[in-house]
Amino acid sequence: MEVRLAEYAGFCFGVKRAIDTVYEQIGKGKTIYTYGPIVHNEEVIRELEQKGVRVIEGEKALFSVPGGGTVIIRAHGVPRGIQECMEKSGLECIDATCPFVKRIHRIVEKAGREGRHVVIAGNPGHPEVEGIRGWCEGPVTVIGTEEEALNFVPEEGCGVCLVSQTTFNYNKFQSIVEIFSKRGYNDNVVNTICNATAERQQSAQTLAAEADVMIVIGGKHSSNSRKLYEICQGECAQTYFIQTLDDLHLELPKSVRLVGITAGASTPNNLIEEVQNYVRINF
Ligand code: F3S
Repeated sequence: MEVRLAEYAGFCFGVKRAIDTVYEQIGKGKTIYTYGPIVHNEEVIRELEQKGVRVIEGEKALFSVPGGGTVIIRAHGVPRGIQECMEKSGLECIDATCPFVKRIHRIVEKAGREGRHVVIAGNPGHPEVEGIRGWCEGPVTVIGTEEEALNFVPEEGCGVCLVSQTTFNYNKFQSIVEIFSKRGYNDNVVNTICNATAERQQSAQTLAAEADVMIVIGGKHSSNSRKLYEICQGECAQTYFIQTLDDLHLELPKSVRLVGITAGASTPNNLIEEVQNYVRINF
């Protein structure tokens, strides 16, 4: 029996970079805070907590913790106002915003200065989208559906700049672009969807189509992990969704030849390896 890991699985570049940034700061004698959980994975957060890393969120929290600590901005980024508060709060601020997200901040900042109405194709309320919104200087609208795109009217006298949340669905973005093109709102459209999501989904689907059994490792609340699970289940009826090895109650009939493994963007490598080794050794 073969155990195979999807070509792209686990932490994306931006999340890995942010977590590495936190680990680099541990042991330097300062209290470390992350602004919001660094990743949607309870295991990782627990491990960091044991090493003294605290999660804080909200303007008030920044001013209520003792000065002299370090606050780290996670890959999703934060609004400009929050970053300014961090700088005023007496904490050392380390920016681990994913460079792909930072690029969007720069685009919308510039568009705002040029007098454009910024439109973010994304999920309102998602921290990344709130962060992007916070770098806009002028009017800004978040749209999540084609219907909202049809109803959108830019502020009078403004050009339009359309960007997307990095994890936005590509087909949906294309439909919004088409709607905007028909209305002439398309002179500043930047597709800022990150490849990491599509790569994970495509490689999970390819592997699931071949596998007899699939295991998807991911956080209960991680939407990209859930999506991977749905995709795999569509291709492979025996798909397991687990958060840790303890959740895995695997039954493998003798006829199973290939067990595929994939993991959401917030799943650490050691957990992926643990599951891989377990299946290899026990079956
Ligand atoms: Fe960055 Fe893409 Fe990950 S934008 S945080 S590398 S999903």
